[in-house]
This record gives sequence, structure tokens and C-alpha cells, in this order.
Amino acid sequence: MKETIQLSASRPEDVRAAARILREGGLVGIPTETVYGLAANALDGAACARIFAAKGRPADNPLIVHISDIKQLYTLVRTVPKEAEILASLYWPGPLTMILPKADCIPDEVCAGLDTVAVRFPSHPAAQAVIRESGLPLAAPSANTSGRPSPTTAQHVLHDLGGRIDAVLDGGPCDVGLESTVVTLATNPPRLLRPGGVTLEQLRAALGEVVLDPAVLNPLAAGEKAASPGMKYKHYAPKANVVILDGPRGAYLDYVNAHRENAGALCYAGDEKELRVPCVCCGGEENSSAQAHELFDALRRLDDLGVSTVYARCPDKNGVGLAVYNRLIRAAGFEVLKL
Ligand code: TXA
Ligand code: MG
Repeated sequence: MKETIQLSASRPEDVRAAARILREGGLVGIPTETVYGLAANALDGAACARIFAAKGRPADNPLIVHISDIKQLYTLVRTVPKEAEILASLYWPGPLTMILPKADCIPDEVCAGLDTVAVRFPSHPAAQAVIRESGLPLAAPSANTSGRPSPTTAQHVLHDLGGRIDAVLDGGPCDVGLESTVVTLATNPPRLLRPGGVTLEQLRAALGEVVLDPAVLNPLAAGEKAASPGMKYKHYAPKANVVILDGPRGAYLDYVNAHRENAGALCYAGDEKELRVPCVCCGGEENSSAQAHELFDALRRLDDLGVSTVYARCPDKNGVGLAVYNRLIRAAGFEVLKL
């Protein structure tokens, strides 16, 4: 156990310290606009291997490489198709990750033996500053213990990884709150592997046909191969058993109030006044962005309710709501009850 150094993104000398640790092969938790990332030098296989050890991450789950200048993309991939240029011009920097055929400089640890690499240009100024200052592309998965909700504050990072990583750079709470949209351009047509802040509707408006990978909304069948390895693991799991109740608000309230034993609720603002169980609120009913922003912190807080079952309201599946639903059904182990 070593002590994790706490740095502040608002101090330039702290950003330089973070960059120095990264250049020396260390691990630093960094803020991005989506969630906190656990960064290491993406060109250093040994440094990236330490990410897997710190998180307890399965070795077959590849990492996203973060850049601070579009020119870096051309050094990391073999080809940059027209679709990548279109998406980069519209959504970079921002919460969008593109998968492309990898260049030889990408170590096996980063791509987990695949022939492709995931690349993202984050918009968070502190993330950009650390990448720029280090002079390196940075591999960074979410900075949580594998299986836990992704961290949206520096405190979440310390809770999960304190003592296991060299430093965390505190840049305040993350804006989007859910991980980036992952789209692969290594297939034709492009395929959405993980929904996020850049929506399926926006991708289709930019590119035409974009396939929604079945793993976004459904559990993989036994033996089926995941297009995005991260989608096959049980994820974001609170201690309690989460059940999504899909139906109108009144039916939700009635159901929960009729099943109160050892139960809690993951509900929308205003619902708690009518529920007779412990509640965690997550955004407003009509506000998918607020739900996205609050979901992971809400999932972490469910553990404090001390209940064995949590009844969650079913999010709307349009726009950013698709990303909220995608994370919530994983937290629920795909248990959805139609009301
Ligand atoms: O917003 C984000 O993307 C955050 C921040 C830190 O940038 N990062 C993040 O990383 O969420 P991670 O490792 O938790 O999720 C990366 C996802 C996983 O589901 C992984 O399987 C998938 O991207 N992925 C990475 N490289 C891939 C590849 N070459 N082919 C298919 N899927 C890939
Ligand atoms: Mg993750």
C-alpha cells in the first residue's frame, strides 16, 4: 500500500506533477467530462499492465487511448476513414470514442490482442492539459474497481483505488456523468457499441446507417462473442438486487408501496414524497441529461440504504436516455418487470 497523492486540477504545478508521474510510467486518476479515468502512458505496455492490476480488470478488456490534438489520431491508427473525420469535426473534443484499425505502436495490453484501438479526444480542460503536458497519448479506462459504478468525483476514485495508484487529479464532478459513446468504424456500416453523451440519433444524422449492437440492450447469449468486451461483464452493480419497473408513474408508486419489505427505491425527483421506502433520487423524470449526470453517484449511494431490493424507475430510451437505460439494465442484471 502506498499513499495516493491528491492533486488539484486548478493548480498548474499539480498538473505538471501529474504529467511527470505519467511520463515515469505511473498511474494517475484524471477528470474528464464523462467520468474519471485511470491514466497511464498508452505507448508503455508495462505501465498499461499496471492499470489492469490496480482495477482488477480482466485482461481481455481493451483500453481507450486519449489524445489532446486531432493530429495524434493519425499516429495511433492505420487509416482514418471519411466517417472518422466527419465525427471528429462534429463531436471532438467530447464524449465520443472511435474504434479504428490500430497502428503498430499500440502495445497489446491496450488493445487486449485485438487488431483495433479505441481513441477519444476529451473536452475537459484538465484532461487536455495533462495529455499536452505529458506529451503522450494516455490509455485510461474508468477509474473504478472493475465491476463498480464508474467514478464521477475524485472521492469516488480514492474510495475505490486509494493506495493502489500514484495520484488523483481533482477537477470537480464530471459533467456528463456516464462514459463516452463508443462507435466502431472498423466495420461497415459503423456500429454503436456503447451509448453515451453523443447519441445514436446524432451518429445517424452524421453518417447515415449506424447499427445498434444488440449487446447495448440485451444480455449476451451463452457463448456469444462481445463486439465490445466491456459489455459482457456485470457492471455498475450495487450490493442490493436492482429491479427495473417499466410502467407509468402511478403504477410504479403503487407497486413499490405494496412491496416495502427490505425494499428501497431509485426514483425521480418528487417521487420520494409518495414512496414509503428509503429512496435515492436520480434526476427528473423528463431530464435524461440530469439522470446521466447523477446515476453513478446514485448507484453508489444505494449501498447506504441497507435494503436488499431496489426498485428503479425505467428511463426513457431516446437520446441520452439510451445510455442511462444501458447502464441501469446492467446494474439490474437485466431484470425488468413490466407493470
Ligand atoms: O468516457 C469514457 O470513455 C471513459 C473516460 C475515462 O474516457 N473511459 C472508459 O473506459 O469508459 P472503459 O475502459 O471503462 O471502457 C472502454 C470500453 C469498454 O467497454 C471496452 O471493451 C471498449 O471500450 N473498447 C476499448 N477498445 C476497444 C476495441 N478495440 N474494440 C471494441 N471495444 C473496445
Ligand atoms: Mg469502465
